Amino acid sequence: MKAVRIHAYGDRSVLRYEDAPLPECGDDDVLIRVIAAAVNPVDWKIREGYLKEMLPYKLPLTPGWDVAGIVERVGSKVSGVAVGDRVYSRPDISRQGSYAEYIAVRASEVAAMPRTLGYAAAASLPLAGITAWESLIDKGNLQAGQSVLIHAAAGGVGSLAVQLAKWRGAHVIATASAANVALVQSLGADEVIDYRTMPFAEHVRDVDLVFDTVGGDVQEQSWSVLKAGGTLVSIVAPPDAARAAAAGVQGKFVFIQPSATILRELATLADAGQLRPLIGAEFGLERIAEAHALSESGRTVGKIVLHIGKP
Ligand SMILES: NC(=O)c1ccc[n+]([C@@H]2O[C@H](COP(=O)([O-])OP(=O)(O)OC[C@H]3O[C@@H](n4cnc5c(N)ncnc54)[C@H](OP(=O)(O)O)[C@@H]3O)[C@@H](O)[C@H]2O)c1
Repeated sequence: MKAVRIHAYGDRSVLRYEDAPLPECGDDDVLIRVIAAAVNPVDWKIREGYLKEMLPYKLPLTPGWDVAGIVERVGSKVSGVAVGDRVYSRPDISRQGSYAEYIAVRASEVAAMPRTLGYAAAASLPLAGITAWESLIDKGNLQAGQSVLIHAAAGGVGSLAVQLAKWRGAHVIATASAANVALVQSLGADEVIDYRTMPFAEHVRDVDLVFDTVGGDVQEQSWSVLKAGGTLVSIVAPPDAARAAAAGVQGKFVFIQPSATILRELATLADAGQLRPLIGAEFGLERIAEAHALSESGRTVGKIVLHIGKP
């Protein structure tokens, strides 16, 4: 099969579009024929070797941990998933990924694709959608009537987080650069701050929840906009516990794991028209270096999708 693999950590030149062996389908796995995958910032962070202590891969590695496709084979212990099913997944990040014509995924990590979405839209949901759900709903405990500040609302995670927070009944304040303000409003944000011309910490007060998708200075300045007892959830850097205590708030960190349960929730919302995946760019697998360059630029709008197989 064709795949993109890396044989060493490094810059984009280590990405090789090449022939690779078909993945083995273990007893608990399903083998998926990949129709579409998506690119996430973690892909190039792993490619660079930034996470090699935490995730000690045996190279060569096929990156990519978002997939939508068709089940080609099921392992001997698998039930509930059948050959021919249209499925999507954010598979275990410690295993080989989805920049390939086939991927083996634990059956417990796949869910039926949203009925109303095509493969590209479905592939853009799992990693970013599970992250937004876990951050806002599981860790952030966001309730109707509460207010939330969502940073980088035009990005892959942020664009889904805005929609989830609105569905939850929250008042949504979002940050984006001027070019993306109208887009973020169209996703349902009640207020959008052009963070480049308007320092958000001077304009936001007493929110129940901050969703930090940027880290660094953005996280540091976010403490002051929370109400007493509020919560900051970061997906970029673990919040400093002493800093949180001093501000009288909670700081939490999320590093997501596969979740078929959340995928089923996301599919229900997508099919009800309440969650609209935003695709900002699409590439063929052989153009992976361009896709990584875009992700590394930090200017992605919505998700970057890779078209791999024919439906
Ligand atoms: N811990 C986890 O489990 C987990 C899971 C998923 C993602 N992440 C991490 O979360 C981060 C976001 O992921 P993503 O997929 O959403 O990234 P992304 O799609 O690449 O985000 C790009 C967006 O960031 C916005 N942006 C950049 N700097 C900003 C700033 N200072 N303030 C507000 N917006 C800013 C840009 O908007 P403008 O062009 O409008 O500025 C752009 O739309 C990444 O670091 C990723 O690795 C972690």
